[in-house]
Parts: sequence; C-alpha cells; structure tokens
Amino acid sequence: MNKTVFFCRSCGTQASKWLGRCPSCGEWNTFEEEVVERDNKASKTLSAKTSLKSSPKRVDEIPVEAIPRVHTGFGELDNVLGGGIVPGSIVLLGGEPGIGKSTLLLQMALALPRVKVLYVSGEESESQLKMRAQRLCQSLSGLPCYILTETSTAEILQQVEQLKPQLIIVDSIQTLQSPLLDSAAGSISQIKECAAELQHLAKTTQIPVFLIGHITKDGSLAGPKLLEHIVDTVLQFEGDRHYGYRMVRCVKNRFGSTSELGIFEMGNTGLREITNPSEILISHREEHFSGSAIAVIMEGNRPMLIETQALVSSAVYGTPQRASTGYDTRRMNMLLAVLEKRCRFKLAAQDVFLNLAGGLRVEDPAINLAVVSAILSSATDMAIDSKTCFAGEMGLNGEIRPVARVEQRIAEASKLGFNRIFLSKYNLKGLSSNKSNIHICPITKIDEIFSQLFQ
Ligand code: TYD
Ligand code: MG
Repeated sequence: MNKTVFFCRSCGTQASKWLGRCPSCGEWNTFEEEVVERDNKASKTLSAKTSLKSSPKRVDEIPVEAIPRVHTGFGELDNVLGGGIVPGSIVLLGGEPGIGKSTLLLQMALALPRVKVLYVSGEESESQLKMRAQRLCQSLSGLPCYILTETSTAEILQQVEQLKPQLIIVDSIQTLQSPLLDSAAGSISQIKECAAELQHLAKTTQIPVFLIGHITKDGSLAGPKLLEHIVDTVLQFEGDRHYGYRMVRCVKNRFGSTSELGIFEMGNTGLREITNPSEILISHREEHFSGSAIAVIMEGNRPMLIETQALVSSAVYGTPQRASTGYDTRRMNMLLAVLEKRCRFKLAAQDVFLNLAGGLRVEDPAINLAVVSAILSSATDMAIDSKTCFAGEMGLNGEIRPVARVEQRIAEASKLGFNRIFLSKYNLKGLSSNKSNIHICPITKIDEIFSQLFQ
C-alpha cells in the first residue's frame, strides 16, 4: 500500500487526513496530500527502467557531449527552445484556455513525419482530435502520430512502455491523475505527483515530454507556477484573443536562452509562423496621422519594428483615464509624469490611451522613446514623419539612456526603408561608422525631441 499524509503548506504540520484549518497555525485550506511511502509493486510499474547507479565525477572529467536536438518543424518554436527539442527534457507550455496550446502541439506532432509521437489527451475525445488533425494537416496517412485519451498516469506509463514513442505530449497536466493519491485531478498534490512521474519517465528513457498547463487570467491556478521548478523549460503561449497573432515566450530554459520569442498567426488551418514580424507590426498607409510612432525593439536576438499609437484627449470626467494595451500602465504613468515635470507638458486633465500593434506585449525599455513621441504627437496633433523611428529608454529626469545592440536595430530599420532614427547620444560612442544610409539623430534630453520632431 502507498502511504500518504497531509502537510500544511504554511507551517508543515502533518495530519493523517485532510483538514480545512490547520490546528497549529490557523491558516485555512493549506493541507496538501503527499506520498511518503511508495508501494513497491506500484512504483515498479511506474518506472520504465530503474535508474543507473550514479557516482560523483570531477567536473573536468565529465565528457562533453553535443546535445542532439530534434527539430519541431517550426523554426520559430525551435528558436524558442534554444535550437530544438532536447532528448529527455520536459517542457511545459502554459497559457490561457483557448489560446491555441493544443493546436500548436498537435500541429508540431503532425509536422514530424519521422518521429513517433504519442499525444495523450485528457481533454478531448479521439474524434475531436481527429477532426482537428484533419484541419491542420492535409494528408494524415502514414504519419506515426498516436492518440491516447487517458488520464491515469499508471495507464499512460504502461502504454508508453508498449508503444515506445520518441516524443510524448500531455494535454493537459491538470487532467492527469496518479493512482497513488486520492485527491482529485488538478489539485496541487496531483499535479506535483504526476509531473514527478513524467519527469522520471523522461529522464530514464530519454523521451522528451511536452506538458500543457492552463493558467487563468490572474495566473492564480497553482499548477503551472508550481511546475516551473520541476520542468526543464517553461514556454508561455500568449496573445490577444481579438488578434490572430500568438506569441510563444520562453520563461525558463535549461538548454538555451530565455529571451527568444516566436510569433505565429492563427488561421483556418492552424498556426502559421511569422518570420518577419516587422511587416505586420507596422501599418502601411499613405496618410499621416498624429499619435503614431515606430519603435525599434529587440525580442531576444531579433530586432523588430513596432507601431505605438497614443491618443490624448481632454478628460470628460474629473479623474482622467489612463489605459494601455501591450505596455505596462504604470510605466506609462511614469513617462507621463516625466513629460509633465521636465517638458512642462500639461497632461493632468487629459485622457491618455496607448496601444501597441498586433496585441504584442513589449518589455524592452527601448520602446519608451517611441511611446513618449507618440504621446507628444497626439497631444500637439502633429504627425511624425512615417520614415522616422525611435530606440531609447527614458529616465526619471527626462534623460535618454542608451539601449543595447544598437547596430542591429539600426540595420533592421534601414532594411525596412526608414531614413531617420532617434537614439541616445551615449549610443554613438560604441557605434562604428554608420554604414547604412539612415540618418542618426542623437538626443540627450526629452525636451530636445520635441523641438527636433515638430519644428
Ligand atoms: P486550442 O488549441 O483548443 O486552445 P487551448 O488548447 O489553448 O485551449 O485552440 C482554440 C482556438 O483556436 C479556438 O478558439 C479555435 C482556434 N482555431 C483556429 O482559429 N484555427 C484552427 O485551425 C484551429 C485548430 C483552432
Ligand atoms: Mg486544449
């Protein structure tokens, strides 16, 4: 028999049954079930192979092996994973319900004609998955992709032993249930236990495992957050539901950098990669409107240009409204305060709205200069020339700070036909001679931009 006990998450008190309130610390709802003693028989069926005996090795004696990687069929996804799927790794794909997690991984499974994939679904029926697969892939004949609708981990591990797949996808971790625990699927203890069992499987058999995990709007569901420690790579799938664009961001990666971003577009036949994001993030129009400025940002190693739009109008109510999509509202408020103080720009009685193109969420502070310029442009109702772009961070004194990888940014802007870029003066130092035919406008303070832009 397996022995399970309940622990208080807050103070560690142990109890033999679940309690609503901890008798020791008085906290509510903190008891979690954990396996303390495993049934030998059960654990034998759980592990496909017993792990090898290990011994400590001197670091210089450890042989260096090049990690062979399996390509996913999506260049964008490979990039985010740091070059492809690493054998024996466990990857968590988190995201809100309906964003396209199942679609992405099923599409990946169908794009691998030479890899035997087991897609375990606890959410959809076989026929639902078949219908989706038909939508995603024109010809399914001969593809080594297997579907299993099952939620018990013991059953799944047995099937894995029989089928011997080369890649496992589990949709989703919240639906799995380990027979070792009595608690319901989706509870914290079940998620932990199921993930640990799958991790053991991945490490002992070298089969890579993809886990899908749901997060709610506020990210409150403990599942994926709790799993971040257990898994090797955490990917986050995000995007605005009203736009077709979806972004895969890497939050943690033991085998590569975490700064990469993959961009996809959701269409009728599933997700399509977008290899040149700048083209969709800038609206191409002849007319010039005020309130729009183009920022040159870096997402991982890739520079891209994105349109920022601002609308400044007089407030109808006593408290002016401040709202932004794709950009942190607190950061916008900070920039507005700097404009007010350093440029003597009266924005206190104005509503300010900010919008980034394509539903993208940008964290690169180099976008600040474009945000400020868009706000200034809307407030004065003077349009910025459409061939002008910006890359600079703004400090609290209104000083423009230099940004990283300025040469790459300039090259991208020049490639897309821009002829003027505003940068911090301090960026000029590291800049080797300007090979591109773009005019560089160095600035040190935010008030200078006003006179240079709208003279
Ligand atoms: P899904 O992968 O089921 O989301 P998740 O697994 O993250 O909950 O995708 C859901 C949405 O994707 C759904 O609203 C419909 C849309 N979709 C398309 O627009 N085109 C397609 O080809 C597919 C398969 C789905
Ligand atoms: Mg799904």
